[in-house]
Parts: sequence; C-alpha cells; structure tokens
Amino acid sequence: MVDNFELAQEEFQSSEKELIAQANKIQEQRKKLGLDGLVKGLEAIIINVEPDNFFKAIQELLNYTGYDIQDSFFNQHRKCSVLSLPGSADILITAYNTPRPNQNLNLYPKTQSLPNTRLETFIFKVEDLDKYTTIQEEAGIKFEERIKNNNFKYVKTYPSAYTNNSLGFMEWKNKKSYRLDTDQDLELNLTKPQRSYLKYIGKLDHAATRVKAIWRNKAILEFMSLTNYNFDFAIYVNQLNSITSVTRLSEKDFALVFTSGIQKLESKEIIGPTEGFIHYYGPRVHHLAFYTENIEEVFKNLKQDGLSFLIDLVGSEEEGLKQTFSCPSAYTFLVNEYIKRFGDFKGFFTKSNVTSLTKATEKQL
Ligand SMILES: [Fe+2]
Repeated sequence: MVDNFELAQEEFQSSEKELIAQANKIQEQRKKLGLDGLVKGLEAIIINVEPDNFFKAIQELLNYTGYDIQDSFFNQHRKCSVLSLPGSADILITAYNTPRPNQNLNLYPKTQSLPNTRLETFIFKVEDLDKYTTIQEEAGIKFEERIKNNNFKYVKTYPSAYTNNSLGFMEWKNKKSYRLDTDQDLELNLTKPQRSYLKYIGKLDHAATRVKAIWRNKAILEFMSLTNYNFDFAIYVNQLNSITSVTRLSEKDFALVFTSGIQKLESKEIIGPTEGFIHYYGPRVHHLAFYTENIEEVFKNLKQDGLSFLIDLVGSEEEGLKQTFSCPSAYTFLVNEYIKRFGDFKGFFTKSNVTSLTKATEKQL
C-alpha cells in the first residue's frame, strides 16, 4: 500500500507539472484565438429532476438555502422554475415529460433509480456569442443545442466525456428571462419558510465535480479551453486517494472544483471516497457550496429544521475557514456545502478541512 502511494505521489507530481504546462498553453491559445475575456462568470446552473420530484426539489432549496423563486413556466416538453439570489448565479430546476437524451450518464448503482436526475449544465455569460461560437466551432467544438429568441442567444455543449457536465453560454439581448417563446406561466404554490437565519446563506461559492483519476487533467484543460477559467491550485490527500483541484476566473467569482482520485487502486478498501463515489454515482457534480455568514447559528438551525449532515462543522476561525456537508438530497443527489471564510483568509481551502470533508463522503458509498 505504501509503495502504491509513493508511486502515486511521483505520478502526481509529474502529472501536476504536465497540467501546469498544458494550462499555460491553453491560456496562450485563448489569447491567440481571440477568446480571452469573451466568457464571463457563471450565470446559472440547470438541475434536472424526475417529474415527481420537481416540487420537492424546489421546496428543499427554499427551505435550506437563501434562494427564492423568481419565475416558473412550462411548455409541452418541460417545467422550469428559476430560483435566484441577488449577486449569485441562478438555479434552474427542470423536469421533462420524456426521458433525457443522455440518460445513460446516470445509470450507476446509486443513481439508476432516478435516471433523469443530475446537475446537467453550468451556464456562463458571454458578451458576443456569435463570435465565441464561430471560434470554438473552428477549433472543432460541436454544440448540442442552440436557441435564439427575443431575450437571449444560447448554445450548449454535449456532455463532457470526462465530467458528464454540459457547458452553456448565454448572451442576454433584452430583459433577463430564461423563457422560451412557447413558455406559459406555471403556478407552483410553494412558499419560502419565514426563517430569519436563511438570509445568512448567501451566494453559490463553488461547485465540485468528481472525475476519474485518469481524466483529471483532461477535464480541467477542457473546461479552461471552453471558458476563461484558470487552474489555480490543488490539495491532495494521499490517505484518501483524493485530489481537490480548484479553477477560478478571479478571486471573487464562483469557482469550479474538480475532485479526483490520485490513481485507481485495485483493492476496494483503499479505493477511497472519491473513486468510490464515481463507482456508485458516475462522474457528476457532488456538491454545491453556499457562502454562509453566522455559520454556527445557521448550522444549528438547519439541523433543527430537518436537514441532516454528513459531518459537523469543521475548521475554526483561527484557521480562517469553517465548512460542513449536508446529506445528499433525495431529489437531486446533490450535497449542500455551507462555507465561511474568516478575516483575511485568502487560501480558499485548508488541507485539514478538505481531508475531513472528503472522509465524510465515505458515508455516501
Ligand atoms: Fe466544496
């Protein structure tokens, strides 16, 4: 086992050098192609759920985050509700009447019971979508979906072969509305609970996607080449066979995190929670992290109001960071992370918290 990890460590270091070299090349390439700065920050995410869970998934977000319903609509194919929070990316919950075309991405031991359920798409804002699309198509990218209407232009990639996530790119034209021309008003009759502590649960801070060890570098580089994000740093936890890699647009923007194994090990006992998650759930987004003020009070109240957790609050004010993970949602499979950084902490994550949180996800296997 020790030998395996020493080997893993060596491989990791060479793989890390390779990643940084390739990441620098992509930054140069983006400049050369005229892509630099075209793609802005995260505008929205789309979470698709089973039709029976549509209302429950929305109510859960109303209960346990700061988000509230901004708009809800439907057409003959799907229902959609837009949840919003000022200063944060929107969360679109959708449910289709027919199976999703990429249902095979969801057929894993612990996800096949809800075969249409996954966080499908991260949508980024673009200021000149025609220019962006032309450059990417010339570079060989194929788009699965294109929409043009009075409110926006939109393209979406096919799901990534490495993460299974799609990336969407949105240019707003007139008023900001996600409605298609065929959409009509949808009455939900759901209400946000009057709990004063919910105002402390703020913006979407980061999301973490779990990818196979062998696809870690490719997943990060592909994401960089399609957006304006850069690889920032990685924290590795040898004893759990896990690397947490952070990509960011700037220090203030939503971060996309890639969690992967260091290497795929043969023995089930030491495969670790990250490779284990992929075995049971497939590559997919594991959690959404919400920036949370007064995190101790919020944590206590969320528990009292029915949310279960995989772990207590970890970290401390002295270390600059406190975090926790909820149990996964029965309607979306997603874990909620609540995170608070203290004072002038600039490290984004700490190794001790990453270790504790990763360890806690063993409970999902
Ligand atoms: Fe996280």
